[in-house]
Amino acid sequence: MIFVTGGAGYIGSHTCVELLQAGLDVAVFDNFCNSQPESLLRVQRITGRTLRVIEGDIRDRAALEAALKNSGATAVVHFAGLKAVGESVEQPLAYYDNNVLGTLRLLEAMGSCGVKSLVFSSSATVYGDPQRLPLTEDHPLSATNPYGRTKLVIEDMLRDLHRSDPAWRMSILRYFNPVGAHASGLIGEDPQGTPNNLLPFVAQVAVGQRDAVNVWGDDYQTPDGTGVRDYIHVVDLALGHLKALERLQAHAECQAINLGTGVGYSVLEMIQAFSQACGKPVPYRIAGRRAGDIASCYADPTQAANLLGWRATRNLQTMCSDAWRWQSNNPTGYCGTDSH
Ligand code: NAD
Ligand code: WQD
Repeated sequence: MIFVTGGAGYIGSHTCVELLQAGLDVAVFDNFCNSQPESLLRVQRITGRTLRVIEGDIRDRAALEAALKNSGATAVVHFAGLKAVGESVEQPLAYYDNNVLGTLRLLEAMGSCGVKSLVFSSSATVYGDPQRLPLTEDHPLSATNPYGRTKLVIEDMLRDLHRSDPAWRMSILRYFNPVGAHASGLIGEDPQGTPNNLLPFVAQVAVGQRDAVNVWGDDYQTPDGTGVRDYIHVVDLALGHLKALERLQAHAECQAINLGTGVGYSVLEMIQAFSQACGKPVPYRIAGRRAGDIASCYADPTQAANLLGWRATRNLQTMCSDAWRWQSNNPTGYCGTDSH
């Protein structure tokens, strides 16, 4: 039984689909602070399988222990956490509380239940402002905001724990920029309020909910002056978790692994690709740089290929057409829908 914290969220729900389709049993532990139970009904609809759902908060150690024991968990995939960079600058303590304390409680609960396999959602944000590209896992780590710092602290906590007890098996997956949606159009990214990330914003403009995309700066040292990122299809990302779980069965290690494609696209290239996918131009305007942004960021995905036998296979066109199918079928996300 795979215990998935934050499994109702964007990446979690797509990972649950792949876990269930691979024949694994899944228990989701989520407090729904940034998701809806509807996403899990849809996961079950896609897969034709049921999963266990436990509503709870990862800062509640007793609830975690009960859920781990009752579900018969053998490994944990840990997505639960807060992820908005701007919000983390305004409310740093909420981020340390949810992300750091929440993970600490989870590790305590896992230890006391004898469940010592963990796949953790880290982020390319732990590389800070890249000193060299593409980013390899041995690039120096740093943080430029409280959100990023929580990921760094958690990574250090995991490495310390593994040093103290090498029976722990941990995979630290550093995601680049997850985008897209399941090909069924039934699950996808459903941000609350104004999206911070580029692709959900572009999708909302395309569906007519917003007038134009603000392109945050066109004076970076990149081919067209706009920011370059390594966008990765969320289903490829989800499959990476399956491979990480497989590897942990054979290796008692604590290993950081990039999950990216190795290819960077600019903001304008993304808008262009999305325009093609939705069959109409997506309006945009050039605006000033966003505070804290970097020019370029993309992965060296070699280690994932070597250690996990994983690589991303879905291209930019698929990322955009799948995101568009989700957005146009569900213009208001999961809100106001039923499961039929
Ligand atoms: P999401 O907000 O869609 O999903 C997170 C889930 O965790 C939600 O269902 C939320 O309700 C739940 N949650 C949050 N705090 C909780 C708590 N205290 N107890 C129980 N459940 C809680 O986010 P996502 O995009 O799916 O991201 C998943 C993970 O991946 C996060 O840890 C995030 O930091 C990390 N990550 C995301 C990105 C990205 O761009 N989406 C990039 C790198 C890393
Ligand atoms: C991508 C590019 C923007 C919005 C963030 C977090 C990171 C990780 C992923 C969790 C940049 C530009 C964006 C818009 C724009 N999350 N942009 N107009 O900044 O690479 O990473 O999400 O771990 O920690 O920092 O992603 O999607 O916000 O931006 O021009 O409305 O799009 O400037 O160049 P980012 P993003």
